[in-house]
Amino acid sequence: MSKRYEIIKNIKVISINNNGFGVAKNKEGKVYFIKEGVTGDLLEIKVLKKRRNYYNAKIQKINKESIFRTNPLCKHFYDCGGCKLQHIDYNYQIKFKQENIINNFKKIGKVSIDKFSKIIPAKKNFKYRNKMEYSFTNNRWLNNKEILSKKKLDKNGIGLHIEKMWDKILNIDKCLLQDEPSNKIRNSLKEFAIQNKISFYDLKHKKGHLRTMMIRTSSLKETMVLIQFYENDMLIIEKVLKFLKSNFPEINSLLYCVNKKANDSIYDQKIICFSGKPYIEEKIKRLKFKISAKSFFQTNIEQTENLYKIIETFCNLNGNEIVYDLYSGTGSIGLYLSKKCKKIIGIETTPEAVRSAIENSKVNRIENSEFIIGEIRNVLQKNFVKKKGEPDIVITDPPRNGMHPKVIDQLIKISPDKIVYVSCNSSTQARDLSLLKNHYKFINSRAIDMFPHTNHVENVVLLKRKKIND
Ligand SMILES: C[S@@+](CC[C@H](N)C(=O)[O-])C[C@H]1O[C@@H](n2cnc3c(N)ncnc32)[C@H](O)[C@@H]1O
Repeated sequence: MSKRYEIIKNIKVISINNNGFGVAKNKEGKVYFIKEGVTGDLLEIKVLKKRRNYYNAKIQKINKESIFRTNPLCKHFYDCGGCKLQHIDYNYQIKFKQENIINNFKKIGKVSIDKFSKIIPAKKNFKYRNKMEYSFTNNRWLNNKEILSKKKLDKNGIGLHIEKMWDKILNIDKCLLQDEPSNKIRNSLKEFAIQNKISFYDLKHKKGHLRTMMIRTSSLKETMVLIQFYENDMLIIEKVLKFLKSNFPEINSLLYCVNKKANDSIYDQKIICFSGKPYIEEKIKRLKFKISAKSFFQTNIEQTENLYKIIETFCNLNGNEIVYDLYSGTGSIGLYLSKKCKKIIGIETTPEAVRSAIENSKVNRIENSEFIIGEIRNVLQKNFVKKKGEPDIVITDPPRNGMHPKVIDQLIKISPDKIVYVSCNSSTQARDLSLLKNHYKFINSRAIDMFPHTNHVENVVLLKRKKIND
């Protein structure tokens, strides 16, 4: 058995797992998950922790580098953990993301898929996000160099949480995930606040003015900024917002809230519009979407269009179908397809998102869509289906933990001809497919990389109901 802190001198990384860790095996078959290990690396590693059937380990020394290694572009890479695959060549990221999906279907789902279509890589693998959320802190995370320097350091910061440490915030000077004016707004507000002695949030003592900042941008070049304050101090609030308004005329929607709760979620907070509109606009093909501060909206807009094209191809609509859009969010999938089918019925648990979906149907003059608030497993009952009409196609896009087994039972009972299953987690998708395999054939699976340099990948599977002879 490997011991904690044991050093293993020379071990080869054989693959990369779903969480982006390099995987290595020793001669006895013990498995190590190595942070920043890349397939092909020969490494000296330090064993950190024993888990149920593997060990966590970290790199001590690279004896021989993998050909898939590359230099991370972001200066914050080694501290941040936000896009933790930057040290791996992008073409190889795409390759192992596809392989991991195939493995999950084989090992977890034990299902076979007729065809795996080629994964769609992102053209833009930086500056692809349209939404970033930053936190202010008066006690920013210091790296080893800063600690050793023993200089008197300014501890104010605004940035991102260190991976798995909700209370530690890394100051970010330049984030490569969102296009400008994102970095400019964040950095100049920080400078302005320091110069004007406006306090940054003190998590330990629960005090301070500036708490979080959300920046949303759109492909129509619109920008939303939402500042969350802790203290309800109107003098400071106005000073901060006036500074942003006069220095960044490109902000179309300048919002704020005051949150005295222990957690910094804005979803139960009153959002106040300081200047401009309370929303920004986005476009997917011919459709316009109004996006408010609390709306869920896909964060990589270019790839969203490609994702919706895959869904459209898999649905292959003829204009007469009733389509259910489960976990519909702001309704964008259903609205995108609405012109090509008879009726769209969306079901979604977040009332705000459903309100946006209804509003977005109006904005786009779509009259054959309906969006219903509720938990899928409570709504998708016999009476509901009788009232709304039996679906020819069900599109399902659940959160990371997949569908509830009851929802799967309900789908089997309703038995639509086709199901199009969109997932951001192929492990839970594989589990769900295994529960459907007696009733459905799996025709095609196509992945699309919405989040380059992270371990996440979106995958769409087309299911067709089995006939008696299948
Ligand atoms: C991955 S998002 C899908 C968003 C949407 N399809 C889109 O493309 O914008 C999952 C959605 O499921 C919703 N949700 C989570 N659990 C749910 C449940 N039990 N019943 C209904 N909706 C749920 C979430 O609020 C979220 O909007």
